[in-house]
Amino acid sequence: MVNVRNVRGGTGLDPISGEVDEILDSVFANARRTSEEFFDSFDKNPQPIVLAEWLATRAWREIDYVFLLNEEIHRYGLGFERKHITLLAKQAFQEAEHYELVSNAVESLGGTAPTSVPPDSQRWSEFLWECLDRHPLAAVAAWNASETSATGSLEPTFLAGERHGFDEVVRVHRKIEIDEKFHVGLGRQVLGRYAKTDDDRNEILRAMRGMHDIAMSMFTPESATRLLTS
Ligand SMILES: [Fe+2]
Ligand SMILES: [Fe+2]
Repeated sequence: MVNVRNVRGGTGLDPISGEVDEILDSVFANARRTSEEFFDSFDKNPQPIVLAEWLATRAWREIDYVFLLNEEIHRYGLGFERKHITLLAKQAFQEAEHYELVSNAVESLGGTAPTSVPPDSQRWSEFLWECLDRHPLAAVAAWNASETSATGSLEPTFLAGERHGFDEVVRVHRKIEIDEKFHVGLGRQVLGRYAKTDDDRNEILRAMRGMHDIAMSMFTPESATRLLTS
């Protein structure tokens, strides 16, 4: 499991940390299992274009995070310590790098990088933007669950890239893995530092539960293997 839970950032999550950890463990395990199943099937007929489609959805999420993080900073950043503005901006910069790199990997496999929200990411995107409108910590909580989920798919992805000699895919995912540890840890730190009231904690749990349900329905063996059969 991702080892980013012991970050120093305040005690604001303490009353709900059991449920938060349960949600995060659940989305991580689901994404890992689904990715492994996808690549088990992919191995039987490893067409680059299928992997390109699998990665194109991720590319969209990377650029949507750039938009979301910058809007989070714009709307709420001055309520945070300055160092957290800097760290969120660093995350936004890295998400832009991920969009560039994953898009390059998609194109190296013969696919097309997305420039608008793909249908299977629509609900995910809408939920995050709704969270951003509701509460300063809600979008942070939602993307923390989503990024934890994405982390579960990283290792199966670069192992498959290695097996099939997709060097660009391996290189990109090694970098993303390092950055995602920082992103998931930063989210946890911000939530723990700024959650003060039960209302804050309820908003955090609402956002995480909502993202959990979206991840569970988006990240299914059926949705993954649909790519292999279409
Ligand atoms: Fe990313
Ligand atoms: Fe990230």
